[in-house]
Amino acid sequence: MSAILPPAQRVWWKQPIDKVEILWIGIAFIWCLVMFFMMPYWHVYGKQNLSNETYRVKPEQFSNATQAMVDKYTVRTETDEKVPVVHPPAGSDVFLIARLWAWWPILELEQGKSYRLHLTAMDYQHGFSLQPENINIQVLPGYEHVVTITPNRAGTYAVVCNEFCGIGHHKMVSKLYVK
Ligand code: CUA
Repeated sequence: MSAILPPAQRVWWKQPIDKVEILWIGIAFIWCLVMFFMMPYWHVYGKQNLSNETYRVKPEQFSNATQAMVDKYTVRTETDEKVPVVHPPAGSDVFLIARLWAWWPILELEQGKSYRLHLTAMDYQHGFSLQPENINIQVLPGYEHVVTITPNRAGTYAVVCNEFCGIGHHKMVSKLYVK
């Protein structure tokens, strides 16, 4: 039998399975199991998949909370778009909006302090990817994702959208400062 010619015997599925084929099925099956169990394992022992809480939220509600934080704690603005850089008090709730095609605002956090980071999308699905830490969180409209984070290293991090969200997806990058 080949992929091009029809099988020599019509009832080909009753022939004994080839040793090489069963071996490859076995390898593929074991590898599937390895990957399946890696998911919970990596959630517990890895550092990329943070445990988050998720709540339903209306976009206006979330955007009001974000605006209130921006009004209170903006320390400067950056880029031509005048994106506010917000330095909220240590230990507080901080908000980050994902939308076509930007993150808003820019957060400035303090090293060693814990924050509750709230994320939502205003329109479509986006992905919060913090580089180079490689922390990833799906960001969905209508849902508020809350993660408790404690930045342990000062520096400038990149926030990248890692869910394809349209023509401006590649421009959906921002920063996060840790001081
Ligand atoms: Cu937002 Cu890709």
